[in-house]
Amino acid sequence: MNDMTRPDMAKAARAILARNDRGGYTVPTERLYPFQWNWDSAFVAMGFATFDVDRAYRELERLAEGQWDDGMIPHIVFHAPSDTYFPGPDVWGTRHRIPTSGITQPPVFGMALRHVHEAAVAAGDAGAAERTRKLFRNALRSHRWWLAARDPEGTGLVAILHPWESGSDNSPAWDEALARVPTTTTTAIRRKDTGHVDPSMRPRDVDYQRFIHLVDVYRDCGWDPAKQWKAAPFKVAEVQMTAILARSTRDLIDLARRLDLPDETTELTSMAETLEKGLAGRWRDDLSRFVSRDLVSGEDIAAPTQAGFIPLIAVMLDQSQRKAVDAEIAHWCEGMAVGVPSTMPSAPAFEPRRYWRGPVWAVINWLIADGLRHNGLNDTARRVERGTVQAMERAGFCEYFDPTTGEGLGGDTFSWTAAAYLVLNRRS
Ligand code: DGY
Repeated sequence: MNDMTRPDMAKAARAILARNDRGGYTVPTERLYPFQWNWDSAFVAMGFATFDVDRAYRELERLAEGQWDDGMIPHIVFHAPSDTYFPGPDVWGTRHRIPTSGITQPPVFGMALRHVHEAAVAAGDAGAAERTRKLFRNALRSHRWWLAARDPEGTGLVAILHPWESGSDNSPAWDEALARVPTTTTTAIRRKDTGHVDPSMRPRDVDYQRFIHLVDVYRDCGWDPAKQWKAAPFKVAEVQMTAILARSTRDLIDLARRLDLPDETTELTSMAETLEKGLAGRWRDDLSRFVSRDLVSGEDIAAPTQAGFIPLIAVMLDQSQRKAVDAEIAHWCEGMAVGVPSTMPSAPAFEPRRYWRGPVWAVINWLIADGLRHNGLNDTARRVERGTVQAMERAGFCEYFDPTTGEGLGGDTFSWTAAAYLVLNRRS
């Protein structure tokens, strides 16, 4: 890869999106992830928007086909069968007209919709307003679901009930909360992921036992949000999720104004204010980052993971917070071949090759850079973006990168990494 020019790389990134296209939706990578994943597709839509706005809209439209009547957009839409992934639709046992999983994922959808809309308007696409208006409705229903189902007490922080919802499945952030979840399952566990990727780069078997225990509990609740909320053995008011929801809410407000929807603008503005207030209260001076709260133990989750920096996309820091966060990110990146690691390298939990316990993820860097820019930390944002683009130029469009060596790890020809290249390469 390293002798490819930037235009060659962009061409290769577009070829990956084409190769992973399954008919209007994009699989994250073949075999390891053979269906449509929620937040993957939102990032992918932004990648498509750099060269094909029609296809970008299509990605979101196909994801919206999986939306439940209560508004939830599931984390996987099983559009077509595949036997290379576990757990498949039979394990989830949901009742949507297209088979889906029963949990959700970070709502990047709203951010993506604004991005796609702006690209479509810039390209002079006459159908943009109509397509955006329909998808805006899907997004609004999903945001209402988030607030009602995952913050029923109105704290301004939304909770995850499963580590898979965070998208950061085996992050050290969940170690304590997940340790309380029993390892017993009624579902037989038949992992497929470790047949596609070296097991040392994936969650451990004991993590999977707990992941599937949670699926069993929620399936027994008939996927009813109120019953799940009561029964949940794992419940974390999460700052990365809340920040993405808050940022997406601001992006929907922008769209609501352009589409001349005053009632929706008012509703979304009150939602955004609630979430931003909730997030602002999660800053910890002693850690120079934001922390989630374990709602089962009532304790803060101080584990140093990337999630602590994501609120920058939604919150305006004061001058001293800004300085502190800038120094903290620099500290995490010291001596690394590529930053920003998903776990602080000096932490005992840091494992540079294991999935969410240390590796660098291009889409996380994209969010961190957006947050840094939002807070006027433009030089650091540029450094993060440039480092991410260079990592891809050296190692290709892998799922993630070892921060200590820059080596590409996990699945290869990864759709969201290709999408990140198409967007970040224009900035750096
Ligand atoms: C997996 O199967 O590894 C996913 O991250 C769950 O969505």
